[in-house]
Amino acid sequence: LSWHKQALRGLEAAEKAGRIEPGRGPILFCGMGGSGIVGDMVAALAYGRLRRPVIVVKDRTPPSWVNDDTLVVAVSYSGNTGETLECVEKAYRHTGRILLVSSGGRMQELAFEKNLPLIKITPNLLPRAALAELLYAVVGYLRSIGLELASSCEVEESIDILRKGIGEDAAKSIAELLYNKLPVVASTFTLQALAVRWKNELNENAKIPAKVELIPEWGHNDVVGWEEPVNAPYAFILIDDPGSPEYKPLLDFAAEWYERLGPVARVELKGEGMLAKLMYGSLLAGLASLELASMRGVDPAVTRGIALYKEAYKSSSPNR
Ligand code: PA5
Repeated sequence: LSWHKQALRGLEAAEKAGRIEPGRGPILFCGMGGSGIVGDMVAALAYGRLRRPVIVVKDRTPPSWVNDDTLVVAVSYSGNTGETLECVEKAYRHTGRILLVSSGGRMQELAFEKNLPLIKITPNLLPRAALAELLYAVVGYLRSIGLELASSCEVEESIDILRKGIGEDAAKSIAELLYNKLPVVASTFTLQALAVRWKNELNENAKIPAKVELIPEWGHNDVVGWEEPVNAPYAFILIDDPGSPEYKPLLDFAAEWYERLGPVARVELKGEGMLAKLMYGSLLAGLASLELASMRGVDPAVTRGIALYKEAYKSSSPNR
């Protein structure tokens, strides 16, 4: 996937875009799927760091609190995703602080028409495969306007981890564990972005459904759902951050609970900083889902359901 190169390209692309005054209000991310996950990851990075909330909207309408102090970041790899474009147009009625991130399409035209800064991403990739360029572009840009999501050491650490990559065996053994199974991906709350990324990669690349559970909320409802589960072949991915030892007993409990129900892969994240952890986990998710796609004989690049959905979306949006 050459994500270390993408990361550098993203940081470079961020430098070329016009600057916005960040304001003091919340930061709103708009985007769907492989672009929307960038907002989730920024929210994860910001959680223990920024003094402003990061809210991610994966829908067509921004929340009613958006005003001229809100910074909006809209990400659409293709630049043509209906929900994201609608969200930008509606947000623009209340704030001019809007950063667009895209490889082109209608979003690029919008940047020109409304004189909004655009970070131009390399075209002709699959949106989900462009994660590193998209995310580092946003991290670099926000940093340049005083919103630091990761220190320069953390950025370097994460790029180093991407450069080293992940052995084929690790991805293969997870794919084998998931083969012909219904995956459940569980993580702690602050790593939600990563659990969702795993789900999305399994959906889009390997063409299987998957479910996400977050610990500790998991222990207050979902745990009971496994007392008398429907008889089906489940497999479990447990995302484990060794840097958060306070969660270890809860993850141990979840692992024990799940082991009665199917095979469990405990994925240990690498790195000190959150950015490194997110990128390591995402890289492994991507490679494991590609392995699984090849074992299942499906084409990871073709997402027919998304194409059909986007056609259906157009009919719900008479203006486009
Ligand atoms: O990975 C994918 O292909 C999808 O999840 C897309 O990212 C999603 O449909 C949104 O499209 P875009 O990223 O072009 O806005």
